Amino acid sequence: MSQRRKLQGYDFYQTVLKNAKYFLAPMVDQSEYAWRILSRRYGAQICYTPMIHAKMFCDEKNRQYQSDVWSTGINDRPLIVQFCANDPETLLKAALKVQDQCDAVDLNLGCPQHIARRGHYGAFLQDEWDLIYKLINILHENLSVPVTAKIRVFPEVEKTIKYAKMIESAGAQLLTVHGRIRDQKGHNSALADWEQISQVKKALNIPVIANGNILYFEDIERCISMTGVDGVMSAEGNLYNPAIFSGSNLPTWQLASEYLDICRTVPTKIGYIRAHLFKIYRPALPFHVDLREQLAKVTTFEEIRAISDELQTASYVYDDEVENDENGYKIFPHWICQPHIRSPVLGNPNSKKKIENS
Ligand SMILES: Cc1cc2nc3c(=O)[nH]c(=O)nc-3n(C[C@H](O)[C@H](O)[C@H](O)COP(=O)(O)O)c2cc1C
Repeated sequence: MSQRRKLQGYDFYQTVLKNAKYFLAPMVDQSEYAWRILSRRYGAQICYTPMIHAKMFCDEKNRQYQSDVWSTGINDRPLIVQFCANDPETLLKAALKVQDQCDAVDLNLGCPQHIARRGHYGAFLQDEWDLIYKLINILHENLSVPVTAKIRVFPEVEKTIKYAKMIESAGAQLLTVHGRIRDQKGHNSALADWEQISQVKKALNIPVIANGNILYFEDIERCISMTGVDGVMSAEGNLYNPAIFSGSNLPTWQLASEYLDICRTVPTKIGYIRAHLFKIYRPALPFHVDLREQLAKVTTFEEIRAISDELQTASYVYDDEVENDENGYKIFPHWICQPHIRSPVLGNPNSKKKIENS
């Protein structure tokens, strides 16, 4: 593939990604095709597939894995397919299989889970810069579409900047920066560091997308103005409120029902659907313990639909006036899609104190 014909950096961002600001994050088992359709309807401009394990994807005997993780359709663009890998040739082989149905291929350098440590990928490659260079460069040299990457930061901003520049020099045409270090996961997540993201943005010549601390629609503009990034990526914010990019807080059952309608037309694993419904309905389930228990056990689409219908509480009236609690989080009724607040004590990115510090 001639590099001359391939759009790069801001040409790629403007022409193919149309200067997008709203990015749906790659999410294992959760940013599947049906979910991408729903998220695009509510404002997601760029969608990532879930992370795909390059080696398993290339294993011809593992067709089940391939169909579980890779499915797309005519309106599923712009689309970025994300892989994890630690072998350049295998990564290229996997990426060549999808390059005609996507707009870029992304390398996952951010996964901090045990499975990534064992499998030697994601954030556990963070210290192997030669290998990362090769992984990105082989895609840059050989694919017809651009390569992008998603990273976590280091504790030291200087190191993060050097790292980001190395990735850019390897040929990445867009970089997503999740502003947390590798150890910040689960209960130890704390807040993402937007200051580091803004430093990376200043240092690079390719588009930079920020990730972390997006609870509400208003956080997106606040993040852009504080960091200068080109766009913002949401994962959990979108799972709990699939309409986050539209600025709406709609009834849980409305979005659940719409998602289920999509799943009727787009074959989707029951496990993915159930996990989505648990998140959409999260604020309501404590009020419907019996339905929560049933949802955990369902094995068929019809059973899920029936539970969702029972959770439909169309008679509820919602007043648009939203008040904040003592930590600065918005108080929504339980039938409205809303972010899952993990740790109010750790601080709210919206609190005044945090804004002044940032
Ligand atoms: C269910 C789930 C699955 C995820 N899977 C991936 C993945 O496949 N690839 C990846 O780079 N990050 C993955 N992440 C991390 C998110 O993309 C994102 O970096 C992180 O959740 C922080 O963003 P947020 O604050 O918007 O949630 C996942 C996160 C969640 C919640």
